[in-house]
Amino acid sequence: LAPRDMAGKQVLVTLGPTREPWDAVRFWSNPSSGTMGACVAVAAYLRGADVTVVAGPTGLTFPCDMAVVSVTTARQMYEACTDLWPSMDMACLTAAVADYRPVPFGESKFKKSTSAGAGITVEFETNPDILKSLGESKRDGQKLIGFAAETDNIREEAARKLAAKNLDLIAANNIGKAGSGFGVATNEMFVLDAKGRKEQWPQLPKTEVAWRLWDHLLL
Ligand code: C5P
Repeated sequence: LAPRDMAGKQVLVTLGPTREPWDAVRFWSNPSSGTMGACVAVAAYLRGADVTVVAGPTGLTFPCDMAVVSVTTARQMYEACTDLWPSMDMACLTAAVADYRPVPFGESKFKKSTSAGAGITVEFETNPDILKSLGESKRDGQKLIGFAAETDNIREEAARKLAAKNLDLIAANNIGKAGSGFGVATNEMFVLDAKGRKEQWPQLPKTEVAWRLWDHLLL
């Protein structure tokens, strides 16, 4: 039986990609499946927490007594998370949020005849950093976990983001490595916390990574 060591805790989890529309049929996104976040949410749920998931488009299903807020864009995810955060004890943001959104072309569908074969230039605007914003408004007793998907200088980037976003724990992985990151069932994490504890975990199923993250935060 799972320990109910998170009973009564209000826990927010973000997961999946965001989708940033450009014209009537096209959007900017990434291949996040939402698997890591779903594992984190279900682990907290099995440990007795009241879990609210803010999910980008994934097609995943969740236990029927878990609150799920479905969003599409980063700005919708930001609105949902900033509304929820004051009433939460903990949050773990796993979503692969699009840092930029294309400046919309308009309501209609872009026609390739418009560019007459000359290619097109799409401009981008900056999206809000949800994790940073929650970190800035974190009150005493709230705990915040972030993820970092990196290809270089993983440990340095993890330390920088832990401080810059006022996190209690950061879990960083090398998305360039087989068995870690998008679309696979395993992850190989470097974990760093605000107490200065550092751990390099071997390649593990995402279910196991999720369980260990809560263990690490609660210890
Ligand atoms: O800075 P970077 O994007 O690498 O940080 C990744 C972490 O920040 C993840 O936990 C991700 O869910 C979160 N994030 C966010 N809002 C953004 C970008 C990232 O919440 N706009």
